Amino acid sequence: MTAPRPLVAGNWKMNGLKGQLAELSAIRDAVQAGGAGRAEAAICPPFTLVAAAAEVCKGAPLAVGAQDCHANVSGAHTGDVSAQMLADAGAAYVIVGHSERRADHGETDAVVRAKAAAALKAGLTAIVCVGETQVERASGAALAVVGGQLDGSLDGDFPATNIVVAYEPIWAIGTGLTPTAADVADMHAFIREKLETLYGRKGVDVRILYGGSVKPSNAAELMGVKNVDGALVGGASLKASDFMGIAAVYR
Ligand code: 13P
Repeated sequence: MTAPRPLVAGNWKMNGLKGQLAELSAIRDAVQAGGAGRAEAAICPPFTLVAAAAEVCKGAPLAVGAQDCHANVSGAHTGDVSAQMLADAGAAYVIVGHSERRADHGETDAVVRAKAAAALKAGLTAIVCVGETQVERASGAALAVVGGQLDGSLDGDFPATNIVVAYEPIWAIGTGLTPTAADVADMHAFIREKLETLYGRKGVDVRILYGGSVKPSNAAELMGVKNVDGALVGGASLKASDFMGIAAVYR
C-alpha cells in the first residue's frame, strides 16, 4: 500500500490584491527550489486573482485553485463563477463546502455535492471540506456530524483520484486552537474508512487534509498523524515564509 502524495494547499479566503502576487511568486520560487519536498503545493486566491496567479505559476510546480464554484456550467446566476470558468482561467483545484461558505451562504451537503460534481466534470480536483462545531465536538457528535457531511457531499460515482477531503474542525479555524493528535487520528481514520466504503481500493489514495490553525510550529505534529495527507492552510498561507515553513515538513 502506497501513501498518497501529500498536498499542502493555501486558502487565501477574502484576502489578496494584485500586490499579494509577489508573495505568490515567493512561494512559487521556494517550491521550485524543493521547499515542499515530496508534497504537492497549491494556492487558492480569491476569484479576482485566479487568472493572474495561474500566469505567475505557469510551468512551475505550484498549482492554483479557487475557493468555490457554481454547480451549473453557465447561465443566469449573477455574481457566480462556474467550474469551467475556473479551469479556463488556469485553476486546477477548487475548494467546495468550506465551513465559511456553508455558514455565510447556507450551502447544504446537497449543494456541496453538486458543486463537487461540477468541478470534477470541468476537470478540476475538488477539495471537499467537512468539520464539526465546538458544541458538536463537546457533545461527542463529531464523527457522526462529519460522517453525515461526507455521505451528503460525496458521491460513489465521483472519480476518486480527483477528490481531496479536508477535515477542518470549525472551532479550530482562525482560533489558534487545534484538536489533539489523537482526535485528528480518530477522525482521519474514520474518514478513510468512509472513503474506502465509497470508492473501494481507490479510497486509500484519496488525500485527507487537516485544516484549522496549521502553522509552522504545529505542522510536524499534525502532518505526522496517520491518514493526514497534507494541510489546508488559511492565515499562514498569506505569507510565503509561513506557508513554506509548513510545507517544509515534507522535505
Ligand atoms: P486557518 O489556517 O486560518 O485557521 O484557516 C483554516 C481554513 O479555514 C482553511 O480553509
